[in-house]
Amino acid sequence: MDLSTSYLGMRLPHPLIVGAGPLGDDLDRVRALEDAGASLIVLRSLYEEEITGEQMDGFFNTESYSESFAEAGTFSPEPTSTLGPEEYLNHLRLIKNAVYIPVIASLNGITPGGWISYAKLLEQAGADGLELHVYHAASDMTMSADDVERQAVQIVRDVKRTLRIPVAVKLAPLLTAFAHFAKQLDTAGADGLVLFTRFHRVDIDVTELDVIRTLPLSDSSELPMRLRGAAALSGRVKASIGITGGVHTGLDVIKATMAGAHATQMVSALLRHGPNHLRTVRREVELWMEENEWESLNEMRGNMSLQRIPDPAAYERANFRMALR
Ligand SMILES: Cc1cc2nc3c(=O)[nH]c(=O)nc-3n(C[C@H](O)[C@H](O)[C@H](O)COP(=O)(O)O)c2cc1C
Repeated sequence: MDLSTSYLGMRLPHPLIVGAGPLGDDLDRVRALEDAGASLIVLRSLYEEEITGEQMDGFFNTESYSESFAEAGTFSPEPTSTLGPEEYLNHLRLIKNAVYIPVIASLNGITPGGWISYAKLLEQAGADGLELHVYHAASDMTMSADDVERQAVQIVRDVKRTLRIPVAVKLAPLLTAFAHFAKQLDTAGADGLVLFTRFHRVDIDVTELDVIRTLPLSDSSELPMRLRGAAALSGRVKASIGITGGVHTGLDVIKATMAGAHATQMVSALLRHGPNHLRTVRREVELWMEENEWESLNEMRGNMSLQRIPDPAAYERANFRMALR
């Protein structure tokens, strides 16, 4: 049975990868994830504000990056993460030396600027790829959807110009014209599109007059919107497709593959059940394929995508109408 896949130009034995988050923070846990069969790991994100808040001159060669420093002083100087830019590079080197699986670094930012040069340092520190998280809160009334998207596409172009390693882009689900934006990123050279960012929950404590922010772990009910996104892109973009959000079981991986995903990232499931859950999910995938007589994931990849439908928009509207009857 063949579970192999190609993701960001890398040949992986199977699509079960560890998504960005705290799972990559601890060396022993990373080793345990590799032992349990993870085929790739994405480290937590380093934020633009954390890079620009530090003395960037300390990290970059001022000669070659001098043009990028223009905005260095204009951001909050308060780093909020326990992993600052320098620690991030050291941690990345540490992980790279400890495991054989590909290690992807993650950068989160929204404005074109000097922080992008940091991507080069991640490459030099040994990252096998970069996941760019370009989520924009979009609460600025003076910025149009077009402005926000153009900015993100520009970041991808800038990063791609300087790196040799592959670059994936993690997208937010709330976009006016998702497929169009994805295509722009694809054309800008993104090697992977990761669907979708999962937002933290915001509530209001009405007696304390406080904003409550929580990040509850997901379950499989979050998967369908990602399936829909992957199905809309499968076969229509060059970039490989990753799904993040709601992948918990072998059946989730099968559905993601049928929608067109090349890789399925897991965070909540592994935080909840531990690294060995990777073994369970892999067994479930193999068992399901055996029972349903599939030889490889490649042959089912994208077989439920919208590409097989002549008019996807009309099809979606017809389904929407029928579901409300
Ligand atoms: C505690 C925690 C920390 C996370 N940190 C990051 C991060 O640094 N960068 C990022 O892109 N996503 C981060 N995520 C989001 C995950 O990568 C993932 O997209 C999301 O949890 C949905 O996947 P899941 O359903 O498998 O949890 C984090 C998630 C959790 C639960």
